[in-house]
Amino acid sequence: MTVLPRSLLPQTAAVGPDGSLSVGGVRLLDIAAEVGTPAFVYDRAHVRARCEEAVAAFPRGVAYASKAFLCKEMARVAIAAGMRIDVATGGEMFVALSAGAAPEQLFFHGNNKSTAELTEAVRLGVGGIVLDSFDEIDRLEGIVRSGGHAPVPCLIRITPGIEAHTHEYIMTGQDDSKFGFRMASGTAQEAADRVRASAAIELLGVHAHIGSLIFDTVAFEKEVEVLAPFVVANEARELCVGGGLGVPYVTGEEASSLTEWGAAVQAAARRCGLPDDVAVTAEPGRAIAATAGITLYTVGTIKEVPGIRTYLSVDGGMSDNPRPVLYGSGYEAFLPRDPFADRRRVVTMVGKHCESGDFVIKDAEVPGDVVVGDVIATPVTGAYGYTMASNYNRVPRPPVVFVEDGDIQVAVRRETYEDLVRLDS
Ligand code: LLP
Repeated sequence: MTVLPRSLLPQTAAVGPDGSLSVGGVRLLDIAAEVGTPAFVYDRAHVRARCEEAVAAFPRGVAYASKAFLCKEMARVAIAAGMRIDVATGGEMFVALSAGAAPEQLFFHGNNKSTAELTEAVRLGVGGIVLDSFDEIDRLEGIVRSGGHAPVPCLIRITPGIEAHTHEYIMTGQDDSKFGFRMASGTAQEAADRVRASAAIELLGVHAHIGSLIFDTVAFEKEVEVLAPFVVANEARELCVGGGLGVPYVTGEEASSLTEWGAAVQAAARRCGLPDDVAVTAEPGRAIAATAGITLYTVGTIKEVPGIRTYLSVDGGMSDNPRPVLYGSGYEAFLPRDPFADRRRVVTMVGKHCESGDFVIKDAEVPGDVVVGDVIATPVTGAYGYTMASNYNRVPRPPVVFVEDGDIQVAVRRETYEDLVRLDS
C-alpha cells in the first residue's frame, strides 16, 4: 500500500476544497467532463518552468528535443522561454516553423535525413545540421554546391563509446549504434577532417547523445571527458552533450535536476580544460515535458479473475501510451477525485486494444473504492506518450489540453471517426 508521491505530479497540482486534484487551477474532473477521456493534460507553468530552468542551466544554448512531445503550443512555450528546437524529421521541422520558430533556432538531427529534408533545411537556413554519416556529408555538399548556398553550419555527431544504463533500445552512445561517427575507430576524426576541408560546410560543433532516461550525471561527465580533446583538436565552437536526463516515473525513483545536470556537465568541461569560448549545450526532451503531462482515462470494466488477478480496463491503452509494451515502463495511477488516498488494491490496469499485452500498468496500486465510471489518471505521461500515439484498432487519438490559471486550452483536438478516413481514397 502506498500513497502517490507528490513529486510525480506537475508543479501546480493542488488539492481543492472538494478533495479532488486540480492542475493549472482546473479540476481534472472538470477537464474530463469537458473534453472527455482519454485526454492528455499539460501544466503550462510546469513546461515553462522546466524550459526556463534548462535555459539557465545551459546559458550558451539549449534545445528542446521535440521528439519527446511536439505540438504548436509546446513549441511556442519552448521558444518563448529561449530554447532552440531539436528537430529530427521534416515533420518536426514543419510543426516547429508553424509554431513560429525562426529557422536559425532549429537544429536538424537524424541518421537518415532525406535529400528533400536536407534541401529544405539548407534553403531555410537552420541553425545547425547534425551530421550523421559520410553519405550525408556527400549529399549536403552536393545540395550546397548546386544551390549556390553559403557554407552550412554543422555539428558532427559522435558515438563516444559510453554505455549509459538504460533500456537497450534507447541507449545510443555505445559503439554499436546506427547513430553518428565512432570515436574509437577513428571514423569521427575522419569525418572532422572531411568537414574541415569542405567549402560547403562550416564546422560549428561536436554532438553526442548517450541515451535516454539517465538518472544521474556521471555518464554525462564521462561523455564530456571523452569528447573534450576531440573538440579542442578540431577547433569546434560548441560541445552539445545531447539529451537523456531522466525523470522519476514511479515511487522510489529519483533523478538529477536540469540545474544539477548543467552544473555537472559544465564543471566536467572546465576540469577537462575545455576553453571558455566553447559553448557547452544540451537538448533535453523528457526532462522538459514528462512530468508536465498527465493522462486521464475512465474506468470501463473491473473484472476479477478469482485466484489470479483483477483486470481494470480503461478507455485507452497502447495507442496513447505504448511505452509499457515497448520498454516495460512502469507508471503509477491515482484517482483525481481523491489523489492521495491509500492505494490498497492491486489491479492490472489494461487498455481497450485487442491484445493481451496491452498493459498500462502491470501491478497498479489503486484505492480500494475504485469503481466503474471513475476517472483514473497516470502521471508523468508528458514525454513519449502523445508523440508515439497511434490509431491502432482505429482508436482516435486523444486531445491535448494545456491548463493555466484556471483556463483550459485545447492545444490539439481529439481525432474524430472522420479523421480516421481522411487519408483514404
Ligand atoms: N537528442 C537526441 C539526438 C536524441 O536522440 C534524443 C532522444 C534526445 C535528444 C532527447 O532525449 P531525452 O532528453 O528525451 O531523453 N521513446 C523512448 C525515448 C527515445 C529517445 C530518443 N532520442 C522512450 O519513450 O523512453
